[in-house]
Amino acid sequence: MKFAVFATLAVIVGALARPQDSPSGCSNGRNAANPQCCVWFDVLDDLQAGFYQGAKCESPVRKILRIVFHDSIGFSNSLTAAGQFGGGGADGSIIAHSNVELAFGANGGLTTTIEALRAVGLRHGVSYGDLIQFATAVGESNCVGAPRLEFLAGRSNSSQPSPPGLIPGPGNAVTAIINRMADAGLTADDTVDLLAAHSIAAQEGLNGNIFRSPLDSTPQVLDSQFYIETSLKGTIQSGPNLGFAEVRSPIQGEFRMKADADLARDPRTSCRWQEMATSNELVRIRHRAAMAKMSVLGFDRASLIDCSDVIPTPQSLNALPSIPAGLTQADFDNSCPDTPFPNLPVAPGPIPTLAAAP
Ligand code: HEM
Ligand SMILES: *[C@@H]1O[C@H](CO)[C@@H](O)[C@H](O)[C@H]1NC(C)=O
Repeated sequence: MKFAVFATLAVIVGALARPQDSPSGCSNGRNAANPQCCVWFDVLDDLQAGFYQGAKCESPVRKILRIVFHDSIGFSNSLTAAGQFGGGGADGSIIAHSNVELAFGANGGLTTTIEALRAVGLRHGVSYGDLIQFATAVGESNCVGAPRLEFLAGRSNSSQPSPPGLIPGPGNAVTAIINRMADAGLTADDTVDLLAAHSIAAQEGLNGNIFRSPLDSTPQVLDSQFYIETSLKGTIQSGPNLGFAEVRSPIQGEFRMKADADLARDPRTSCRWQEMATSNELVRIRHRAAMAKMSVLGFDRASLIDCSDVIPTPQSLNALPSIPAGLTQADFDNSCPDTPFPNLPVAPGPIPTLAAAP
């Protein structure tokens, strides 16, 4: 009797275990909990070998992060409330309607990348909205310190062009940025958390004399350094002139945009900003949550399927947040009204000069 119960249990346990144990039919013996996710392994291979040139954390990752923001933020509750088309959010319209959207000033320099992504989408028969979110998660996974982003699939491929004027600009006032983000459903905290993307960022279009100057000292690592370095007093002009919406930075070769400098100092965002300066882990966790929120603007989460298990696990970061060598705690602009800027160690070594980001 006891044996019979045991045998029955063993059969049940065996049946329950089967989905994990046997391949679900994805290519190269890989498994996805949901077999509908298999196509994404093929897109993964294609992106890593081609678009990301061997799974690198370089310029294409930075471009996809601008693209994912500019696609998703094309969503306005106030336009909808006024009876106009408010945009489809994370719908891939930046690819489908590139003839309209790439003419927006904020989308300068993205044409080559958009065309490369379009080709990937057509090769694999996936929607442009899904593809942008997937390429974002894969791209971040190539950068040390990044979170393993959530990836949901199933966005419709049909879209309309985004209304103009919905993408925040580098010279915008904090109030304008906060209001625009709120109109899309994102809070001031979400905005701070999303901006961890600027820790793996450079600029190409704001000052051509310092092409690809990075926004922090570690443009290939997703970390706290962006939040630390934007909070230091701006003393240095990296190029022969200041570019569009450029303000002085604390490090030779670093580019600081006015919007980032102001968000770091505004009482509505500065306390969260300085928290992000203290912990790479906090940056990783919060950035992941904010990206997940942005990825479903215009969509119902519940209607999408979770294919996150296709996303590679990023390399973890060992370094701790630090003040760049040559600077000290006294170089911070204190801006959070509640709390002084937290004490951080100073990095050893010579005062850095930053090279152009790869
Ligand atoms: C909220 C206000 C934001 C403003 C005003 C802003 C503005 C800008 C500007 C002007 C550039 C320089 C582009 C160039 O000249 O090549 C840039 C770069 C970049 N942005 Fe943002 N951004 C914002 C938020 C975001 C968000 C939410 C993300 C992604 C989640 C993002 C990701 C990036 C990345 C990765 C780059 C580097 C591009 C490259 O190196 O080619 N940004 N941003
Ligand atoms: C998505 O839409 C474009 C047109 O904007 C079309 O060329 C492409 O084949 C569509 N892709 C899928 C998977 O339906």
